[in-house]
Amino acid sequence: MAASASSVVLLLILALLLVGFTVVTADEGAFVGVNIGTDLSDMPNPTQVVALLKSQNIRHIRLYDADRGMLVALANSGIQVMVSVPNEQILGVGQSNSTAANWVSQNVVAHYPATNITAIAVGSDVLTSLPNAAPILVNALKFIHSALVASNLDREIKVSTPLSSSLILDPFPPSNAFFNKSLSSVLVPMLSFLQTTSSYLMLNVYPYYDYMQSNGLILLDYALFKPLPSNKEAVDPNTLLHYTNVFDAAVDAAYFAMSYLNFTNVPVVVTESGWPSKGDSNEPDATMDNANTYNSNLIRHILNNTGTPKHPGIAVSTYIYELYNEDAKSGPISEKNWGLFDQNGRPIYILHLTGSGSVLANDTTNQTYCTAREDADPKMLQAALDWACGAGKVDCSPLMQGEPCYEPDTVAAHATYAFDTYYHQTGKAPGSCDFNGVAAVTTTDPSHDTCLFNRSSSVGTNGTLSNVTAPSINSTGSASDVGFPYQGSSIQTLLWLLGTILTALLML
Ligand SMILES: *[C@@H]1O[C@H](CO)[C@@H](O)[C@H](O)[C@H]1NC(C)=O
Ligand SMILES: *[C@@H]1O[C@H](CO)[C@@H](O)[C@H](O)[C@H]1NC(C)=O
Ligand SMILES: *[C@@H]1O[C@H](CO)[C@@H](O)[C@H](O)[C@H]1NC(C)=O
Ligand SMILES: *[C@@H]1O[C@H](CO)[C@@H](O)[C@H](O)[C@H]1NC(C)=O
Ligand SMILES: *[C@@H]1O[C@H](CO)[C@@H](O)[C@H](O)[C@H]1NC(C)=O
Ligand SMILES: *[C@@H]1O[C@H](CO)[C@@H](O)[C@H](O)[C@H]1NC(C)=O
Ligand SMILES: *[C@@H]1O[C@H](CO)[C@@H](O)[C@H](O)[C@H]1NC(C)=O
Ligand SMILES: *[C@@H]1O[C@H](CO)[C@@H](O)[C@H](O)[C@H]1NC(C)=O
Ligand SMILES: *[C@@H]1O[C@H](CO)[C@@H](O)[C@H](O)[C@H]1NC(C)=O
Ligand SMILES: *[C@@H]1O[C@H](CO)[C@@H](O)[C@H](O)[C@H]1NC(C)=O
Ligand SMILES: *[C@@H]1O[C@H](CO)[C@@H](O)[C@H](O)[C@H]1NC(C)=O
Repeated sequence: MAASASSVVLLLILALLLVGFTVVTADEGAFVGVNIGTDLSDMPNPTQVVALLKSQNIRHIRLYDADRGMLVALANSGIQVMVSVPNEQILGVGQSNSTAANWVSQNVVAHYPATNITAIAVGSDVLTSLPNAAPILVNALKFIHSALVASNLDREIKVSTPLSSSLILDPFPPSNAFFNKSLSSVLVPMLSFLQTTSSYLMLNVYPYYDYMQSNGLILLDYALFKPLPSNKEAVDPNTLLHYTNVFDAAVDAAYFAMSYLNFTNVPVVVTESGWPSKGDSNEPDATMDNANTYNSNLIRHILNNTGTPKHPGIAVSTYIYELYNEDAKSGPISEKNWGLFDQNGRPIYILHLTGSGSVLANDTTNQTYCTAREDADPKMLQAALDWACGAGKVDCSPLMQGEPCYEPDTVAAHATYAFDTYYHQTGKAPGSCDFNGVAAVTTTDPSHDTCLFNRSSSVGTNGTLSNVTAPSINSTGSASDVGFPYQGSSIQTLLWLLGTILTALLML
């Protein structure tokens, strides 16, 4: 009796540990990436594209092909890359194991690991835009995967295929959602493939179109992640889950649709989402303001690791559609205006991203600075200042008495000087303006009186770096190995836990 009770306790502890572990891994995985379409009248060259990505701290991208020039330019950039088998090549790849093997060898193996390819998107919206390829789609996935297995890259590189959310029928309430049944013969083996290879469902989520096609049923605010009065919040009557935005509802609809086919452990990665900043007369909500609101709120939502009502806290990494306005695209005006930047690398609008980390830090033409946060804990601030002037190798002599940055003699002012210097010394590397959460990027120049925050690093309007002081991001550069040594919140939690446990032990 006692033995079984203690093993139950043990199992419970194990289960708790496992649950905790799953949530933590998911949290760490949440990222915002960007799609790079190339239908521009004057496409920037790969070097310029990569310079823009770096200046904006974009660490994850999806290419719609496996362009050699881009893959070469991305080498040793620290950027994680999803490459694609274009729809034009999918029939060949899905019909021949050796065509698939050649594709992988030329477009993946030849560039890896210098270029950090982390996923292969096999086609794009194949089931909706190229329905005649449906019968060979799963074979294409399997052939590409077995070529990766043969090169021993199948653990590093995931294989999947982006689906349109229009395949999910009755998406609201999400618990009623199901995949178009006439596609079951493709979707069931596909989900089974994704499950056995520990891959994920790639889903394109466009609240803009859901809103446009809803004939007024979907409120604009609900599509834009704006706060709704509680009587307008959508409640799923079957699960009683509250939905405050269309994006979450669409992702949960996918989880429910998968679970009706008995797949409950395939995560979702959103391969496309965004909002156009311009449209013609019958697209009145394609505006700069709405695009900015949608993308800013989306980025904050994803990076906050909010998850969805069905799976709170489970990361839903998302690729914004898209980096550039594709001015050479045909179709309505909105088609050409989904981008965050124009072809000169100038932002179409400045995202409102205060406090959401360093991805897409506002703009390329205006200078950014790193300052101490107003609400920072003074002890943490002092510790970070000490670190910057010590291990961080910042020359803090201007902070000495009688030197230009001594006044005002406050921890916050001194920390701002040290943080900003460090931030610029590292070439504004991702994570270099965090200092365990006590620092934030700003566009306001913190210079005062004699203490001038003048730096030589700047980014030209065409996205090329001009006179970068000393960018120290290299091939392995990532948020955690540049910058303050204890950045991750989970590490912080761990330290805190350890501290608590030690204290508890000492008190015994
Ligand atoms: C690619 O990026 C991931 C995530 O940062 C990292 O774990 C992996 O080591 C990188 N691979 C290469 C080859 O750089
Ligand atoms: C495809 O080729 C791989 C080796 O690249 C092999 O392991 C696999 O069995 C082949 N699959 C089929 C269906 O021929
Ligand atoms: C379901 O898929 C079939 C085959 O692609 C298509 O013809 C049909 O219109 C779809 N049904 C709905 C409701 O979208
Ligand atoms: C899902 O599993 C249940 C219970 O095992 C079974 O009754 C049902 O037929 C399965 N559904 C599908 C679509 O496989
Ligand atoms: C961030 O997450 C917290 C809890 O995890 C939540 O209360 C808050 O509303 C979220 N903020 C945003 C902007 O999603
Ligand atoms: C740069 O800042 C100035 C003034 O602060 C502003 O007028 C301008 O629009 C900014 N540039 C961009 C590209 O936003
Ligand atoms: C971005 O710009 C807005 C105003 O243009 C500003 O309030 C915000 O602090 C900036 N965010 C970052 C991360 O620089
Ligand atoms: C900024 O540059 C001026 C001269 O151009 C120099 O006198 C001043 O010390 C510099 N400020 C800092 C903080 O390096
Ligand atoms: C644009 O890029 C070229 C290099 O490709 C560079 O020489 C030029 O100075 C840049 N122009 C601006 C305005 O940054
Ligand atoms: C760029 O750097 C070089 C060498 O460090 C310097 O001579 C030049 O004046 C700098 N140009 C600008 C525009 O800061
Ligand atoms: C790149 O980083 C590695 C590991 O941190 C280091 O050994 C190497 O010297 C760095 N290379 C450059 C050029 O900074």
